[in-house]
Amino acid sequence: MPHTNTGIDPLSAVTHPDPYPYYRELATSRPFFRDERLGLWVAAGQREVAAVLAHPDCRVRPPAQPVPPALAGTAAGDLFGRLIRMNDGAAHVPLKALLIPMLADIAPATAAQHVAAMAKVFDAGAASRAALCGECVNRWLFALPVVTVADLLGLPVAGDGGRAAQVAQYVAAFAAAQSPLASAQAVDAGAQAAQWLGAWLADAAPADDRLSALRQAARAAGIDARAVAANIIGLLVQACEATAALAGNTLLRLGRDTPQSGLPLDAVVARVAREDPPVQNTRRFLAADAQLCGHAVKAGDAVLVLLAAASCSGAAAGERPWTFGHGRHACPGDRLAQALAAATVAALRARGADPAALAQAFRYRPSLNARIPHFL
Ligand code: HEM
Repeated sequence: MPHTNTGIDPLSAVTHPDPYPYYRELATSRPFFRDERLGLWVAAGQREVAAVLAHPDCRVRPPAQPVPPALAGTAAGDLFGRLIRMNDGAAHVPLKALLIPMLADIAPATAAQHVAAMAKVFDAGAASRAALCGECVNRWLFALPVVTVADLLGLPVAGDGGRAAQVAQYVAAFAAAQSPLASAQAVDAGAQAAQWLGAWLADAAPADDRLSALRQAARAAGIDARAVAANIIGLLVQACEATAALAGNTLLRLGRDTPQSGLPLDAVVARVAREDPPVQNTRRFLAADAQLCGHAVKAGDAVLVLLAAASCSGAAAGERPWTFGHGRHACPGDRLAQALAAATVAALRARGADPAALAQAFRYRPSLNARIPHFL
């Protein structure tokens, strides 16, 4: 079926200046359809998005391809293959059962205190003192939430600004290598980053904190220490691009819409998570022929799940924002992510970042699923 809105499709919508009328149209007129040009099924209605994410045959990776081919055989691929985020196997259940309560247990106020403390570490380090230029803001958005998660886990990042910046840089490189848009050079950098992060984590003796408790509980449950290590790095990666996007889109909202400056920052962040969501879609892959939303789909087919379309079709107050997913793989870091984003924006504003000026000059970073502003 041809697109009625020319110049936009379900993938280019992610970085379109205003994709929401298009998403709304899809959600109401074509809630589940086949896009032949993209070679994907597309779920856009709330009911359809929830149905795909709940379907037992809809898996997070193509069954024959547990690791993206570009990463396979590298340190990055080895790490990727152990992530709970990327697996439906029963083997991952015990570790997931430890990670989810660990994240849920972090109070937003605690997260905010750690962001403020890590921002001071950046002030003291070479990372940059002034957050006034777009490039500095970009660096802070990508680094501050990541090193704060490391700090919350008890990893040694607080004492030394240089090390914190380095950790953030390697996490960002590993995250970038997972994109289907990654160049060969970015994939190489991601493999090196995965290796560096693995070695750093192996050497790190965490303070008597969340990570040591997790390691102990994992040992008692017979969970492979390598899976624990990979998923700790996985948490830092999860905190990277999507949280940068949530904080960045919040800066844009504040810069464009002055009345919102009167709202508490966490309320603005919660609104942005719904109305200009950082993660716009996710994918599922059919493990078997199935009936899905009234259509016969085949083993190996891929479904693009438009979380952002479900989000702009309205939500009951208090409902969890769609950008954090739904069902078996729903984000366990949703509350933490919003606290990190709000505190990151607060730290930047306290250092002179001006949302109105930032909103004058930015573009979206190339991405097929995350809406991440890059300030110029
Ligand atoms: C604004 C920031 C964030 C957004 C929008 C976001 C969004 C998501 C989404 C959509 C998924 C599900 C993907 C799917 O079903 O295909 C997910 C999974 C996950 N997220 Fe987040 N996330 C964010 C931040 C975080 C943070 C800060 C953490 C932890 C430090 C985290 C930890 C995880 C984990 C562990 C999973 C895998 C869960 C599973 O597979 O069972 N996320 N996230």
